[in-house]
Amino acid sequence: MAIWLPDLEGHDGPKYLQIVEAMADDIASGRLAPGTRLPPHRELAYQLGVSANTTSRAYAEAVRRALLRGEVGRGTFVRSVEVHSSGETLNTLHRAREGPIDLSRNLPSPGFAEPHVRRILADISSGSSLPALLDYQAEADLTSHSEAGRQWLEFCGITASRDQVVATIGAQHGLLCVLTSILNPGDLLLTEPLTYMPVCAMAERLDIHTGQVEMDAEGVIPESFDTLCRMSNPKAFYLTPTLQAPTTVTLSDQRRQAIAEIAANHSVVLIEDDVFGALKPDRPAPLAARAPDHAIYVTSLSKAVAPGLRVGFLTAPERLVPALRHAVNLSVWMTPPLILEVATRLIGERTASTLATQQRRLATQRQNLARSILGEIDYAADANGLHIWLPLPEGVRSDVFRTQCAQQGVLVSEGRSFAPCANLAPKAVRLCLSHEPDETRLTEGLQTVANLMRGSSSRFALNI
Ligand SMILES: Cc1ncc(COP(=O)(O)O)c(C=O)c1O
Repeated sequence: MAIWLPDLEGHDGPKYLQIVEAMADDIASGRLAPGTRLPPHRELAYQLGVSANTTSRAYAEAVRRALLRGEVGRGTFVRSVEVHSSGETLNTLHRAREGPIDLSRNLPSPGFAEPHVRRILADISSGSSLPALLDYQAEADLTSHSEAGRQWLEFCGITASRDQVVATIGAQHGLLCVLTSILNPGDLLLTEPLTYMPVCAMAERLDIHTGQVEMDAEGVIPESFDTLCRMSNPKAFYLTPTLQAPTTVTLSDQRRQAIAEIAANHSVVLIEDDVFGALKPDRPAPLAARAPDHAIYVTSLSKAVAPGLRVGFLTAPERLVPALRHAVNLSVWMTPPLILEVATRLIGERTASTLATQQRRLATQRQNLARSILGEIDYAADANGLHIWLPLPEGVRSDVFRTQCAQQGVLVSEGRSFAPCANLAPKAVRLCLSHEPDETRLTEGLQTVANLMRGSSSRFALNI
């Protein structure tokens, strides 16, 4: 069997760390499966043309990061899935390595953050800050935590003062806090016609009316937003201008500017959901940077670092901050200080931004893989995005197509899962590329979808 060789391209820094980072990538992508035995470090050194000292340091660092385990007399192995003391394996609900291939969930690739969080948890547990982190905190977050939020927002292109940063339990909690604090029952909230549906569900629960701004292939249309502002007096507009789920569109500079100006002219609050922003650093400036008095910016560490951390940050014009803090206070009293401390250290030591880069790199690899399998089939995607949006051939119903995929062991989401008006749901499906850790399973899933697409097109071309 061929020995494992790390692909060092795109990795910077000392050689031994490049080897560790490439190893982490391969473990995350499933190329190095749990339990795989690694080549002896001297052999790897020979193959890579580096000194044995370099590979020995790399293995030691990988063991420290809990990527590998050494067994005396047997060798060095990729660490296997952890087992609880009860004997149960950890809950891998969303990342099963067998059963249906799941392309329906928009999660980042797993594994990158784990060694860093392990190390930070170990540091916290042996340090002096733990007692304070286990206490209730005062009204606002700890200063160091707000500072970390400020830094993360800065990384996302937003300049905010520390006092304007509010920590939340993920972006979803942030959005709920925004809806409860700036909208009242009976107010009108505009959304994109295809959107993150939990926001519509929250609005319904809060008796907030919703309406849709029109969208074309380049995203929401500023003129449609302007018309609705004139005719319907909306209070706020919720939108995802970067790597929009599900359409993958990133709004252009001009459209962003136009939307920011329309919001300011009509005193409409923009609720900018930028959960994917950290994956696309070259995007045009956020809306909140253009209309800082009229935009609330909501983001989190979920897509770039790890969704299970449940850490998010929002920032808003000064006048709205007290109400937003109050909403956090009423809903959860405070964002858990212990987990905020983990996030603060990840951000402070710049690991969080490195993890975003790793996610982005893997996203690009997977987008290339998808293109090589889907070939001539037309779909929307972004090189940094975690998913693709696949319109179905004329006459093919998305519920039927989703069922066909499921019958062949592949789960996908259909257009109506994103459509507030079900009758306007497009005939398309979303395929998420980063949720499956194992690239072989992803390949198989995409091949199944491609075969069904080709089969459907030819059936319809032949009018069968
Ligand atoms: C567009 C969008 N907004 C918000 C969220 C929620 O993110 P978080 O995990 O930070 O709560 C998601 C999660 O999938 C999302 O896709």
